[in-house]
Amino acid sequence: MAQLSSPWYIGDVEIPSRIVLAPMAGVSVQAFRRQGRRFGAGLVCSEMVSSCGLSYGNERTLGYLRIARDEHPLAVQIFGSEPERMAEAAQMVVAAGADIVDINFGCPVRKVTKTGAGASALEDHDLACALAGAVVDAVDVPVTVKMRRGVRNGSLAALELGPKLEALGVASLTLHPRSAQQMYTGTADHTLTAELVRRVSVPVIASGDIGDHAGAERVLDETGAAAVMVGRGAQGRPWTLRELSEGSEQAPDRAEVVAELVRFMREVVREMGEERSVGFLRKFYGWYLRGLEGAKELRVQVTQAPSVELAEAMLLDACPEALPLVADAERETALLPDSDSDRLLDLPISIYGGG
Ligand SMILES: Cc1cc2nc3c(=O)[nH]c(=O)nc-3n(C[C@H](O)[C@H](O)[C@H](O)COP(=O)(O)O)c2cc1C
Repeated sequence: MAQLSSPWYIGDVEIPSRIVLAPMAGVSVQAFRRQGRRFGAGLVCSEMVSSCGLSYGNERTLGYLRIARDEHPLAVQIFGSEPERMAEAAQMVVAAGADIVDINFGCPVRKVTKTGAGASALEDHDLACALAGAVVDAVDVPVTVKMRRGVRNGSLAALELGPKLEALGVASLTLHPRSAQQMYTGTADHTLTAELVRRVSVPVIASGDIGDHAGAERVLDETGAAAVMVGRGAQGRPWTLRELSEGSEQAPDRAEVVAELVRFMREVVREMGEERSVGFLRKFYGWYLRGLEGAKELRVQVTQAPSVELAEAMLLDACPEALPLVADAERETALLPDSDSDRLLDLPISIYGGG
């Protein structure tokens, strides 16, 4: 079994560790992806972006997909139900700097599936193959596909579709072995991941319920997958990624948690501006502060703060020990390439519910 901290390849793209940070709508912004890379994720992914939104530019545009120099390798995930538009979208994201184009065949949200995109492509293999084939033909970078097991409970659609996608030139497959109908209930059935690995020769990424080093090793061992993907376990918990890749179990202390949260808040504000950040960050306060001793009251106050500046002041007031760590982080950030060198794609993001 491969070491979680060892490198591997998707096509010709080297991925430095076998921990992949999951694409999550409303979460996987640049600050989150950069943080993921800092904590040991070998590959980070954008949230799903609409191929229609990209080519028409007529959907509700909530922001930009910002691609920084220090987050590579990066997969940008696209979804849609029209092969030509998907091909065009793939070319646009590659031009913006994506190292890998990922196609979403997993999103269970009705707004997406009713158009034939997301998980519903698992039920229509002709369409799924037309979409994947068009994207593979359109770009020179590796194209990957992320799937659920199928739409309905018990479905094995992903296992049948996987080899067809491989034959079209798809370079890697991610399986989140729950049905779309299940949403996030029940558990991910990684015996299906093992079966997919047996059926294809491209690397498979196992997604679903991976939370610690031992669990990740077990999934790699039992399935033969090339890598594990971590989603909810990394929400407000970047330390999970380090624990996964290194196996060390050092829980962060209060000062580290607050300092990392403040660093994240500042990066989000730099990325999307103060106004949008206020609402965006609310869920992160809960994720970071859960389980911290004596932080219940603080969590309520911070979540209600009308500005990010005020929220930051409350956090640092409650935990002044974090101040030196925040200063260190600022010095480190100052050494990073200037955000003016980021590449931007004007995109409709965060309006759907994921996969
Ligand atoms: C809030 C949220 C948003 C998500 N958005 C996406 C998405 O945009 N694209 C996608 O392929 N999967 C998306 N997912 C699914 C995750 O990538 C992952 O497959 C799933 O959460 C199972 O992994 P976990 O148990 O580690 O969270 C999302 C999941 C969550 C919780």
